[in-house]
Amino acid sequence: MFDFSKYEDKLKKDIGEKRFNHVLRVKDMALKLNTNIDIEKIKTAALLHDCAKYNEKYFLEKYKKYCEFSDEIIYNKSILHSFIGPIVAKYEYGVDDIEILNAIKYHTTGRENMTDFEKIIFLADACEEKRDYEGVNELRKLAFKDLDAAVLFSLDATIKSLVDRKIIIFPLTIRARNYLLRKKNG
Ligand SMILES: [Fe+2]
Ligand SMILES: [Fe+2]
Repeated sequence: MFDFSKYEDKLKKDIGEKRFNHVLRVKDMALKLNTNIDIEKIKTAALLHDCAKYNEKYFLEKYKKYCEFSDEIIYNKSILHSFIGPIVAKYEYGVDDIEILNAIKYHTTGRENMTDFEKIIFLADACEEKRDYEGVNELRKLAFKDLDAAVLFSLDATIKSLVDRKIIIFPLTIRARNYLLRKKNG
């Protein structure tokens, strides 16, 4: 079992007080959304989901033998921390549960055929209590009713906003969205 008290200070130092408080809110939201996943696993994934944030370059260098990422990931600031996350969670925090590591890895982009665990971490990050953007209340409501519908709603909003801001869309996000759309439409 992951003993958070052992790592709390390190995490706070690595990601800063503000992001640390976000992480605690993601944990609270994930626990509220959770119905059937091991509570300790949900907690661990939520607490560590942003563990690589702000130190991407440092961890990329430190763990370069595990970081064979495409340029598409390396140069995408907003998703790089998600992909380095599982490496940092494993080697700095001693977590080696693949479900936890994948929930961290896909918390920003989503992916096709996500597990409920991955969806909960993805959604808790997107709609934790203090998130404040257009549509967040609707997303929050939806997340408690239907995980798939909520993830689809969130991916649609992300894609729309990326298009509006002329920002590159990571292909996995499009595939995640198409997958849910196909599933929904049968
Ligand atoms: Fe993140
Ligand atoms: Fe986050």
